[in-house]
Amino acid sequence: MEFRHLGRSGLMVSEISYGNWITHGSQVEEDAAKQCVRAALDEGITTFDTADVYAGTKAEEVLGRALAGVRRESLEIFTKVYWATGPGPNDRGLSRKHITEALHGSLRRLQTDYVDLYQAHRFDNETPLEETLKTFDDLVRQGKVLYVGVSEWTADQIGRALKIADKMGFDRLVSNQPEYSMLWRVIEAEVVPLSEKEGLGQVVFSPIAQGVLTGKYRPGQPPPAGSRATDPAGGNFIARMLNDDVLTRVQQLEPIAADLGLSMAQLAVAWVLQNPNVSSAIVGASRPEQVRDNVKASGVKLESEVLKKIDDVLGPIVERDPAKTVSPERRP
Ligand SMILES: NC(=O)c1ccc[n+]([C@@H]2O[C@H](COP(=O)([O-])OP(=O)(O)OC[C@H]3O[C@@H](n4cnc5c(N)ncnc54)[C@H](OP(=O)(O)O)[C@@H]3O)[C@@H](O)[C@H]2O)c1
Repeated sequence: MEFRHLGRSGLMVSEISYGNWITHGSQVEEDAAKQCVRAALDEGITTFDTADVYAGTKAEEVLGRALAGVRRESLEIFTKVYWATGPGPNDRGLSRKHITEALHGSLRRLQTDYVDLYQAHRFDNETPLEETLKTFDDLVRQGKVLYVGVSEWTADQIGRALKIADKMGFDRLVSNQPEYSMLWRVIEAEVVPLSEKEGLGQVVFSPIAQGVLTGKYRPGQPPPAGSRATDPAGGNFIARMLNDDVLTRVQQLEPIAADLGLSMAQLAVAWVLQNPNVSSAIVGASRPEQVRDNVKASGVKLESEVLKKIDDVLGPIVERDPAKTVSPERRP
């Protein structure tokens, strides 16, 4: 496993990290979840990503149990706050009250005294940015959070936050967590150039497009048994990519991967890691074999002719519009 700096910070992260959205506390049983975490650790993954909202807070508990007993200094634990975790108006968003309470809940469930990275899981249009950033800064000073980042913020929102942090002397954002894959490149036009200039790294999610880029979903055929598309929670999220045009073009990536001696999943993960602004690619897995397959993408170099062939195959199905990065207008 190779390691990269998280943005311009001193923190090193494994360039492939493990995330537990959809899986822990939901799609997969606790035993399978623990086996995936064990496989990740055995393969050299040290960076783990979760969120308070995953599986209604159960995912953090499962990860906390799976990592119990592992030397804390050898792990980077990332979690997030914003989406609703309770019935009340203050159980969501980025207010001082909710961030503080949410972090305390996350620390308890993860069985740790601090998280390495605390991320705003979307932009909150109903809280002054100063209030959010001041609260993050306070949590850093209290030692409960080591670094702060965001997820799916636009370049404009990140830029505004950096200006406030610089003016007020608050801790600066070091990362953004956007969706990024061969199919979804909306960060390239605006978020990446700003991040390179300002020292934020991208911790990218769904690099395998939730499984679509493995090629296992075939055009005109029902999804394979036990896959995310057949899961009650996961099915809704993957549905937008399960159309014949996408699936037909993805099948045409197979010879490109085979020529390189890579699996399709490895090609997909290696592709996002070619972008030097990416600090880590977070992969999900419902089985330990998937983790062992995907980690082999670490250190793979893709030549420019390969990147061109991929672009030629995917053509018009690649999404590049930066306006596709959106946070809810009102708190959910
Ligand atoms: N910040 C955000 O808003 C946000 C949003 C989404 C995700 N995330 C983070 O990113 C992480 C990864 O997201 P993701 O799970 O969508 O990523 P992904 O790595 O693109 O997809 C993972 C899924 O693809 C399938 N898969 C993975 N490797 C495979 C292989 N080698 N062969 C066959 N199938 C394979 C598995 O699903 P099946 O076996 O069930 O088919 C697995 O659960 C999450 O856990 C979370 O930490 C963050």
